[in-house]
Amino acid sequence: MLKLGSLKLKYPFFQAPLSGYSDYAMRRMAIDFGCPLTFAGVMLAKISLHPKVLRKKAFRPQEDEHPVGAQILGTEPEMMAAAAKELVNVGYDLIDLNFACPAPKVLRRGRGGALLKDPDAVIKIFRSVRDAVTCPVTMKVRYGYGSGDENRDKFWKICEMASAEGVDCLGVHGRSVLEKYRGKADWKVLGQLKKEFPQTTIVGSGDLFEAEDIVNKIKETGVDGVIIARGAIGNPWIFSDLKEALAGRPLPASPSLQQQGQTILKHFELIQEIYKPGKAARYFRKFLVNYCKRHPERKKAQADFLAAKNEAELLPAIKHWYGLN
Ligand SMILES: Cc1cc2nc3c(=O)[nH]c(=O)nc-3n(C[C@H](O)[C@H](O)[C@H](O)COP(=O)(O)O)c2cc1C
Repeated sequence: MLKLGSLKLKYPFFQAPLSGYSDYAMRRMAIDFGCPLTFAGVMLAKISLHPKVLRKKAFRPQEDEHPVGAQILGTEPEMMAAAAKELVNVGYDLIDLNFACPAPKVLRRGRGGALLKDPDAVIKIFRSVRDAVTCPVTMKVRYGYGSGDENRDKFWKICEMASAEGVDCLGVHGRSVLEKYRGKADWKVLGQLKKEFPQTTIVGSGDLFEAEDIVNKIKETGVDGVIIARGAIGNPWIFSDLKEALAGRPLPASPSLQQQGQTILKHFELIQEIYKPGKAARYFRKFLVNYCKRHPERKKAQADFLAAKNEAELLPAIKHWYGLN
């Protein structure tokens, strides 16, 4: 079980907000494979307050996917609080605050990971949002802005203050903002955090790709749970594997080629319900590149998928390479 304030998850993992990926289709696939909580991709608080945005279906949670979280990005406490309220009004069950994003255009505006340089600003935002909504409010941070002592001190200060304020969960990616995705995530810091703040729900993020390795990381560090990110792209099986691994049972047999194909087709169907013809096939490519990783003729299959110009060309290619003809 994983406790995020008033929200209790059956399993100690959830799917990350994944900008450009975690739309309803990816969330639905994760849920179908046993993921107990998913997130929409990060939203700029300012954008979510635009009167037309949250009226669009793409930005609203669907009835069959609760609990589902929204993650927001911004610098102004009042604006973040107003955005959180709107998101809860349209049906999101949890609000996560992004103090982790390393994208240059985000950092230039002092948002996301840039806020790790200013612990007081982080806590002001947290308080403002927490006081505006009744749902759980969680935070995602990285292991400091950079690696020097000053950055690390600020990181610990933020964790200490957030814990004292009663944050419903502290999600930590064990890389600094400046590290982006280089090197390996530092999981030792997650163990230290859990020891330091035993009352706070601590979840870890970074390099989570294999169920057994993930279970080992949970055991070694004592974290309450984990956030599955890249490991879930084109790989919803990670959730069914994790459930078994956490229960100490052997992993399920790898899906056959046909089973993989059926899963891919289901995901593609969902995508076609969301995106216009043409866009759907183009958009699905980035998922297919990941789905293909299990294919024995990966390169050839991938080349065919990338060459498909529209849905009418992509569908028979998927069926061909996954033996569904
Ligand atoms: C394509 C992509 C989009 C992401 N979008 C978000 C996001 O919207 N919000 C967020 O907090 N983290 C986001 N992340 C970071 C992940 O949540 C995670 O912390 C990071 O990828 C490290 O975990 P991993 O190595 O297991 O992928 C994103 C990562 C990727 C690769």
